[in-house]
Amino acid sequence: MRLKGQVAIVTGAAQGIGQAISTALSQEGARLVVSDIQEQAALAAANQLVADGREAMAVAVNVADGESVRSMVERVLSSWGKIDILVNNAGITRDALLIRMKEADWDSVLDINLKGVFHCTKAVLPTMTKQRYGKIVNIASIVGVMGNAGQANYVASKAAVIGLTKTVAREYASRGITVNAVAPGFIETAMTSALTQEVRQRLMEQIPLGRLGTPQDVANAVLFLASDQAGYLTGQVLHVNGGMLMV
Ligand code: NAI
Repeated sequence: MRLKGQVAIVTGAAQGIGQAISTALSQEGARLVVSDIQEQAALAAANQLVADGREAMAVAVNVADGESVRSMVERVLSSWGKIDILVNNAGITRDALLIRMKEADWDSVLDINLKGVFHCTKAVLPTMTKQRYGKIVNIASIVGVMGNAGQANYVASKAAVIGLTKTVAREYASRGITVNAVAPGFIETAMTSALTQEVRQRLMEQIPLGRLGTPQDVANAVLFLASDQAGYLTGQVLHVNGGMLMV
C-alpha cells in the first residue's frame, strides 16, 4: 500500500491507459478521482473501483476548458481536502498528413493534449505548494520524441508536453513537487485498435520485445513515478516502448 490515504486525480480515466492507471494507483491505497469527458463511462469506472473495495469518485471534466478543470479541483478539495497525485492522461488523435490537416483538428488536439495539461497542472499547484508535496505525471508519447508521419498535431502536442514537464519540474522542485513524463510506445487500446494488420506487423518488427504494450505496462511506470520510490526523479521522461526507441 505505497499510496495509502493519498488523493490522486487521473484525467481520461474512463477507459484505456487512464483506467489502468486508476486501478494501479487505487490498488496501492490511493483515493481515486476518475475524471473524463465521458461522464457515464467515468461513473462506471469509478463504481468498478468502489465495488473492488477502493475509494473513488467520478468527475466529468473537459480538460481543454479551464473553468471545468477548476470546478473539478474544487470538488475534490471539498470532498477529500488534498491532492497528492495528478496524472495528465487525457488525449486524442486527429490524424492526417500536414497538407490535409484541418485547422480545427490542429486546434482540438493541441487544446486537449497540451492546454489540458496546462489547465490541470495550474489548478493543482496551489494546493500541492501548500502541502509542500505533489507528484505530477504527464502521459507523453514515443512519437513526441521520434516524430510520426500523419500526426503533426499530435506529435507537436506530445513534444510540447515533454518541454512543459521539464519546465514545471524546475519551477516547483523546491516546493517538494516532482513532475515527470511517461512516453508510451504503441499500446493496445481504442486509440490503436484502428491499426491495420499490416501496420501492426510492420510495427512489431521495430519493437525488440516483439509485442505492443499493454495499458498495465504504462500504469506500472506511472505508479513508480507517483510513489515516493521515485522521490529523486524530476523532469524525466520514462520510455515504455518495448525497446522501440532507446534514448
Ligand atoms: P483512449 O482514447 O482509450 O482514452 C483517452 C481518454 O481520454 C478517453 O476516456 C476520453 O474520453 C478521454 N478524453 C478525451 N478528451 C477529453 C477531454 N477533453 N477531457 C477529459 N477527458 C478526455 O486513449 P489511450 O490509448 O488510453 O490514451 C491515453 C493517453 O496515452 C493519451 O494521452 C494518449 O495520447 C497516450 N498514448 C497512447 C498510446 C497508445 O498507443 N494507445 C501511445 C502513446 C501515448
